[in-house]
Amino acid sequence: MLLLQKNRTMKRIIIINGPNLNLLGKREPTVYGEKDFETYFSELKEIFKNIELDYFQSNIEGEIIDKIHEVGFSYDGIILNAGAYTHTSIAIADAVRGVTTPVVEVHISNVFKRENYRHHSYLSAVCRGCIVGFGLDSYRLALEGFN
Ligand code: DQA
Repeated sequence: MLLLQKNRTMKRIIIINGPNLNLLGKREPTVYGEKDFETYFSELKEIFKNIELDYFQSNIEGEIIDKIHEVGFSYDGIILNAGAYTHTSIAIADAVRGVTTPVVEVHISNVFKRENYRHHSYLSAVCRGCIVGFGLDSYRLALEGFN
């Protein structure tokens, strides 16, 4: 009973990772680090015991949109690293605009230090905020923003 009451007051946050982020740990380690996301996600769960934390990854634009629709009216927050779709996807931006759950845009690398085509984001203007360039720690900082 006590546990049920506690759970009801817990915030529900989901991390949504887009294309190629399933390769973290193996993919360009000098840019994205050497840790896989599953390991990092367990560390986050340890740090944020007061948050009900979910994780979803897809390489498919439509699946990311479906997930935003699914959680976007009931969760307390979405942390979204849309990977390269950040720079191309009006459809994901429309999904973010269309839901009520606040979305924080996250990037592991500092996209502004990189190629010009990474400097524009379709998502930044429709997100509550953006955290960029702190390595995997960007996700922890985004979670602090919801805590
Ligand atoms: C990224 C930056 C994007 O430009 C890139 O396409 C990614 C990862 C990041 O987290 O730094 O896939 O979103």
